[in-house]
Amino acid sequence: MTRYATRSAVEALVTPFQVHRDVYIDPEVYRLEMDHLFANTWVYVGHDSQVPNKGDYYTTQIGDQPVIMVRHSDGEVKVLYNRCPHKGTKIAIDRTGNTGKFFRCPYHAWSFKTDGCLLAIPLKKGYEGTGLDKTESGKGMKAVGAVKNYRGFVFARLNEEGIGFEEFFGGSLSSLDNMVDRSPAGRLEVAGQPLRYMHRCNWKMLVENQTDTCHPMVAHESSAGTAVKIWEEMGHDADAPKPAAMQIIAPFMSPYEFFEEMGIRTWPNGHGHTGVHHSIHSDYSEIPGYFDQMKEAYGEERAKEILGENRHNTVYFPNIMIKGPIQQLRNFIPLGPDKTLVESWIFRLVDAPEQLVARTAMYNRMINAPTSIVGHDDLEMYERAQEGLAADGLEWVNVQRLYDEGEDLEQEAVENGTTERQMRNQFHAWVKFMTATMPENLEAAE
Ligand code: FES
Ligand SMILES: [Fe+2]
Repeated sequence: MTRYATRSAVEALVTPFQVHRDVYIDPEVYRLEMDHLFANTWVYVGHDSQVPNKGDYYTTQIGDQPVIMVRHSDGEVKVLYNRCPHKGTKIAIDRTGNTGKFFRCPYHAWSFKTDGCLLAIPLKKGYEGTGLDKTESGKGMKAVGAVKNYRGFVFARLNEEGIGFEEFFGGSLSSLDNMVDRSPAGRLEVAGQPLRYMHRCNWKMLVENQTDTCHPMVAHESSAGTAVKIWEEMGHDADAPKPAAMQIIAPFMSPYEFFEEMGIRTWPNGHGHTGVHHSIHSDYSEIPGYFDQMKEAYGEERAKEILGENRHNTVYFPNIMIKGPIQQLRNFIPLGPDKTLVESWIFRLVDAPEQLVARTAMYNRMINAPTSIVGHDDLEMYERAQEGLAADGLEWVNVQRLYDEGEDLEQEAVENGTTERQMRNQFHAWVKFMTATMPENLEAAE
């Protein structure tokens, strides 16, 4: 298992516009992603409204590392490895719960404060003079390297050293800002549990697809195309007012020109978004009373500015996507080289009309649910790609659309909305954060 364990071997997997198939299918590359990429980057953990009260916790994973997000007694959100420092037992098994003032391991009852510090050990005298207090285990549950709560969104970096939060995300935080600013109170709350949907494909296929604007009119013709056809057969004018479900699904069938003109913006470190000038979310009808609440909270000009931003999908590298105008977050959680758990979360805009979250929930059911009529189209493509990549005839995947020689992915740019620049941007960042902690060569590894 050392074929790819050096910096130069990983660098050779990505050219300016091609990606080697092993990036998607090779178990060693996947292992290296877990050890390096997911340890060196800022990975989304959860929203702080999932743990509103002290002692509330939520269990999830960063890469393949089991972690607990918990509200500590000082009100801060902590992220701890979900592992007892004694013999490794997972401390919390439930997805969510309240642990009170401390965690207690079910095996030998060591207990820990909600920031991980060791609180008590039964029959502690058995450790007197053994030096336990000088070991890692004697300190308690281990916290991850760094945590940042950005306007309610909790991100963590596993490694203690590495790129800072602001430097990693840079200008891309404007998309999260816009989603939060859409609440008159400037606050979001998760609305229930996410829709969870297992995909038998590599996690990066889902991330790439978020800014793939040349697939909707093709892959979704069977679902969205049928809906539009039936709508027209019912005798509706193209301009006739549409019910919410049609407002959501019809734009998937927009022509290439629509997607070309909507634009794509990319930021350094793998982040980017579709829908710079307009998007498939631009033409939703107004919800009565909402604009007045926004005007009251922000003033007319700022309210118009916030609601005038109609970004489509913003990818936060490595593995989430948000939709500001419709308050969604999708988390693409890797479970293996060919297995990904997709979580689709929705948010309530605090102090805004309930119809907004109703529309958001409708979008989630129609587009992202396991019972969606649209999501299957994408799933079919990912799974076919995963199978097709096993073919030995070709080794490379192509992401060359609108590529320019000399393209500088360390610079922010706005381009034609059908470019594959954001995919190239992701893989550029992939190499950067995979190799940051890898040895130059095998001798150095020893
Ligand atoms: S394994 Fe947790 S207390 Fe022993
Ligand atoms: Fe799609």
